[in-house]
Amino acid sequence: MAQVKIGHVKLDSPVLLAPMAGITDLPFRLLCREIGGVGLAGSELLNSRAIVLGIPAVREKAKLHPDDRPLSVQVYGNVEDPLPQAGAWAVTQGATVIDINMGCPVDKVCKKNGGSLLLKTPGRTANLAKQIVDACDGVPVTAKVRLGWGANELTAPDLAKRLEDSGIQAVTVHGRTTSQKFSGSACLDGIARVVEAVSIPVIGNGDIHSPETAQHMFEHTKCAGVMVGRHSMKEPWIFQDITKSLRGESPVFRTRNDKIKIILRHLELILEHRGERSALHCITNRIALYGRTLGHIKPLKERVRLAKNADEIRAALEAWLGADVAEELCFAPRA
Ligand SMILES: Cc1cc2nc3c(=O)[nH]c(=O)nc-3n(C[C@H](O)[C@H](O)[C@H](O)COP(=O)(O)O)c2cc1C
Repeated sequence: MAQVKIGHVKLDSPVLLAPMAGITDLPFRLLCREIGGVGLAGSELLNSRAIVLGIPAVREKAKLHPDDRPLSVQVYGNVEDPLPQAGAWAVTQGATVIDINMGCPVDKVCKKNGGSLLLKTPGRTANLAKQIVDACDGVPVTAKVRLGWGANELTAPDLAKRLEDSGIQAVTVHGRTTSQKFSGSACLDGIARVVEAVSIPVIGNGDIHSPETAQHMFEHTKCAGVMVGRHSMKEPWIFQDITKSLRGESPVFRTRNDKIKIILRHLELILEHRGERSALHCITNRIALYGRTLGHIKPLKERVRLAKNADEIRAALEAWLGADVAEELCFAPRA
């Protein structure tokens, strides 16, 4: 397993947790790290203007915790936004890496010329990247891109080369276009083209849900690392599974009880770092996803969804520990 180096930062594992707005908050990042195998975790995307204006809710999301390293803090904005200042601020907070969002297809971001819209103007985007690199005082700056805006505008290889020339130290490629949003499947050939275009590490991203799909991404694209997003919401142990498989180590078999204990730990981490309202919101929303790996747990899902406070969620989960359900249900193949 080759080591990924992003500038001077050496990752212990080439498996990265994707930045996901509303998902990869501090408790979730800590949960994935505790289980193991996370080489680098991405923050939620942060609005550069809000950072510079000092909006507390946004600055809070970039707050560094000693157990949450190495951390890639992702910022977004357009060429007129204070992205260099926002990156510099995140550096002062201790970010390990600053990541520029160039792939968000959501209107709220694109309509302000940020996110994916940066794919359309490679020259201007590369200039912006250079300003951010200069502002970040030696802390590596990376970019997260899609293949291009539409099927006829696959700008990623050219943009990645320009970004490399601007001092960007790694590029993550989600193998879809902006127009695709999340439809279809990730195009690994498109990611391979970016790998061919640059000498910096390329992280392959899109649809990885098992050690086998991670391996396929490595072999097909020759990428340096892989990034997992959506599947981690169902199986936050995916990073450990992939890392162990890459190291040739035996897989970990988790019983249903083990998995429920992980959900309980997630609950405790949210309570500790974000409070009861967030815990209730998060676990009631995510129990269906977690539940997909737990066999038949409809009554548990019902109880969690109807819970009025964290104690009720905890009681529901604890009651299910050791419940009389065949263990083999937990080993259903990954969806
Ligand atoms: C709920 C959600 C939020 C996301 N938020 C971000 C984000 O803030 N920044 C970003 O670069 N990508 C974001 N993404 C995209 C993911 O980082 C990733 O590129 C995409 O989900 C493809 O990887 P996957 O197939 O492993 O999920 C988000 C995706 C989802 C599903």
